[in-house]
Amino acid sequence: MKFSTSNYMALATIATCALAAPVIYDTNSTAELMSPLSQEVLGWSHATFPAIYQTCNETNTRMLNAAFKDTAEVTAYGKSRLLNYGIDDAYYKRWFGNGSIFTVMGVFDQLMEASKGSMLMRCDDADGLCAANPNYYAGHHRESAPAETVICDYFYNSKKPLSTICFEGSIVDVGPKHYAGIDMLHRYLHLPTMNMDDYISEYAETLEEVIDYAQNNATFAVKNVDNYLYYLADVYSSSVIPGGCLGEL
Ligand SMILES: *[C@@H]1O[C@H](CO)[C@@H](O)[C@H](O)[C@H]1NC(C)=O
Ligand SMILES: *[C@@H]1O[C@H](CO)[C@@H](O)[C@H](O)[C@H]1NC(C)=O
Ligand SMILES: *[C@@H]1O[C@H](CO)[C@@H](O)[C@H](O)[C@H]1NC(C)=O
Ligand SMILES: *[C@@H]1O[C@H](CO)[C@@H](O)[C@H](O)[C@H]1NC(C)=O
Repeated sequence: MKFSTSNYMALATIATCALAAPVIYDTNSTAELMSPLSQEVLGWSHATFPAIYQTCNETNTRMLNAAFKDTAEVTAYGKSRLLNYGIDDAYYKRWFGNGSIFTVMGVFDQLMEASKGSMLMRCDDADGLCAANPNYYAGHHRESAPAETVICDYFYNSKKPLSTICFEGSIVDVGPKHYAGIDMLHRYLHLPTMNMDDYISEYAETLEEVIDYAQNNATFAVKNVDNYLYYLADVYSSSVIPGGCLGEL
């Protein structure tokens, strides 16, 4: 509803969601936060998004909301692929092998439609880790406040909209977390409420290990964060760009 710029026109076919205007909560009590955004997104009838804390300024908030919108778009493509092509799909096999499609479907549902009532994004480098890791930390989960994620300035400088997919190199070259929406999904999965107390976790992060899980350890392929991220980037790129841009495995 608020998104009428040409940027969003192209998204209309898959994700006609409209996030509300910047949501900035003026409270220190994250427990009281209600899930701020529950909107209809094609593919997602009740998409939910984290709250954005008052320490995020207008620019931060706009960029975070754009990343949230990308989480919905990229997972909608992933879910649609699962529903239409099932486990015999080459994309599915590449990243999940013979792992359970019920797990994968459940994780996408969890990521997009589970309540995010206390989930908070903040922009104030509360633990000083952004400053301590300049040009390296794009953000981090807060161990001391498990519902909270700090977004560092490096996030805004380095993470790209999904609309740029395939522009700067193959997925193998830049990695799926190059894209703000996909990086954001990985940040969701650091939260115990999202990863089911580490049922889903970062068991392995290199491309080689991710492929090895898919081929030889599918039980863990469907529990490993990066298998999801590669799957989503791969499916998305090949859905919007003829031939996609996975690159050499
Ligand atoms: C939030 O915390 C800060 C510092 O602890 C305090 O100055 C401010 O009044 C608090 N804001 C609210 C809305 O409670
Ligand atoms: C918002 O904060 C960022 C740093 O996170 C800063 O670079 C930017 O200039 C600020 N924007 C506004 C409108 O204040
Ligand atoms: C996947 O295949 C392997 C070997 O072919 C088999 O041992 C394993 O049980 C299968 N896993 C699932 C979840 O079906
Ligand atoms: C699968 O991966 C997990 C976690 O890395 C490991 O503990 C387990 O031994 C692996 N299983 C096989 C069959 O390789």
